[in-house]
Amino acid sequence: MLSGKHILLIISGGIAAYKSLDLIRRLRERGCRVTPVLTKGGAAFVTPLSVSALAGAKVHEHLLDLTAEAEMGHIELSRAADLIVVAPATADLMAKMAGGQADDLASTLLLATDKRVLIAPAMNVRMWTHTATQRNIARLKDDGILFVGPNEGDMACGEYGPGRMAEPLEIVAAIEKVLADGPLKGRHVLVTSGPTHEPIDPVRYIANRSSGAQGAAIAAALVQLGADVTFVTGPATVAAPAGVRAVRVETAQEMHDAVMAALPAEAAVMAAAVADWRVASRSDQKIKKDGKGLPNLSFAENPDILAEVSKLKTGRPALVVGFAAETENVAANAAAKRKRKGCDWIVANDVSPETGIMGGAENAVTLISEGGAEDWPRMGKGDVARKLAARIAETLLKG
Ligand code: CTP
Repeated sequence: MLSGKHILLIISGGIAAYKSLDLIRRLRERGCRVTPVLTKGGAAFVTPLSVSALAGAKVHEHLLDLTAEAEMGHIELSRAADLIVVAPATADLMAKMAGGQADDLASTLLLATDKRVLIAPAMNVRMWTHTATQRNIARLKDDGILFVGPNEGDMACGEYGPGRMAEPLEIVAAIEKVLADGPLKGRHVLVTSGPTHEPIDPVRYIANRSSGAQGAAIAAALVQLGADVTFVTGPATVAAPAGVRAVRVETAQEMHDAVMAALPAEAAVMAAAVADWRVASRSDQKIKKDGKGLPNLSFAENPDILAEVSKLKTGRPALVVGFAAETENVAANAAAKRKRKGCDWIVANDVSPETGIMGGAENAVTLISEGGAEDWPRMGKGDVARKLAARIAETLLKG
C-alpha cells in the first residue's frame, strides 16, 4: 500500500528521534522512498550518517546550503513528496508551524509545502499540557495538520503522562490511512456546521441548540474518502475533525462570507443551523435595566446561504445538499424546502424534543432528492455521515 510512495521525514530535536530511525526502516521495508530532513536539534540526538544510511538518501539539514539548493531548491523539496511527516515534532517546531515562521529548513519546508502534513508530537508532559502548546495544537488542527499521538506513559525525563511519541508502527498506520486513495481524492467539498450566534449586545446573543455533531461527522467521513474539505463552522460544542481546513465564524453573515470565499467546490453540504434572523437593533453597549421597560428588539433577515449557493449562475457546486430541521410534516415540509431553496438534496430530520436528535448522538433522516424521499433507519450520526458521504462520492463520480 505504501509501495512507491515518497515521504519527506522531518526529524526535530527530542529523545524520541531515536525511534525515527526505526520509522525510516519500517517505511523502507514497505517500499517507501524516504527523504530525510534533520533539524539542528534533531542532529543533536541522531547523526546525519545513521539517518542517511537507513534512508538510503541524502539528509537535508541547512536552508542556505548552496550545494543542496543547486541540486534541489527548498521549495521543490517541500512539494516533491506525497506526504510530509514530522517525527518527532517538538513543542518548538509546532509553535513555529502555528506562527508561520520559517527560520530554518524544516519550518520553511512546512510553510512552503502544498502537501498534507502529519505530525507525531513528542515532549515533556508539562510542555504538552501548557496553554501555549494547547493553543498551537488547536491552531494546527484548524490549519488541517494531521496528528498521530502523543501517547500517555513513562517519559524519558522520569515523568508520566501524555507526550510520548507514537510508536513507529502507529505512525506507519497513520501514514497508510492518510495516503489511502479514497474515491474523493483531490475533490474539494465544502461543509457548513454548528449554530450561528447573533449578537443582541456585546454580552448577549441569540443561538440554537445545534452541537455541530452531524456536520463534523460528515466532514470527517468525507475526509476518510479522500476529499479536500473546507469546514465552515459556527460556535459548535463538537470539535472540528482532523484533516479539514476549518474556518471559524460566529454570525450567519460571517458564515455566508466564508462560504462564498471558499468556493468553488464540487459539492457543498450545508449542515449548519443558521439563524434566520439577526438583531437589527443590536446595541454596541450592554443593554441596561434602565427602568424604562423591556427592550424592544427588531430583527432583519439573514442571507440564506443554501439558497444563494444553490442558485449561483456560475460556479455552482455540482451537488448542493441542504438540511431541514423540522418538527412536523417532516417529509412534505422538506420536499417543499428543497424546491424553494433550489438544492439537489435535502437531508430532513425531526428535531422535536422527544426525538432527542438535536444535540444527541443519533439521527433518523429522510433523504429527499428529485427522485423522491428515502427513509433511513435511526442510526448514529457517524453512520448517517458515512452513508451520506458514500452517496455524495457515488454521485460526483457518476457526474
Ligand atoms: N440555511 C442557510 N442559511 C440560512 C438558513 C438556513 O444556509 N440563513 C440552510 C441550513 O444550513 C440548512 C437549510 O438551509 O441546510 C435548512 O434550514 P432550516 O433552518 O431547516 O430551514 P429554514 O430556511 O429556516 O426554513 P423554515 O423556517 O421553514 O424551517
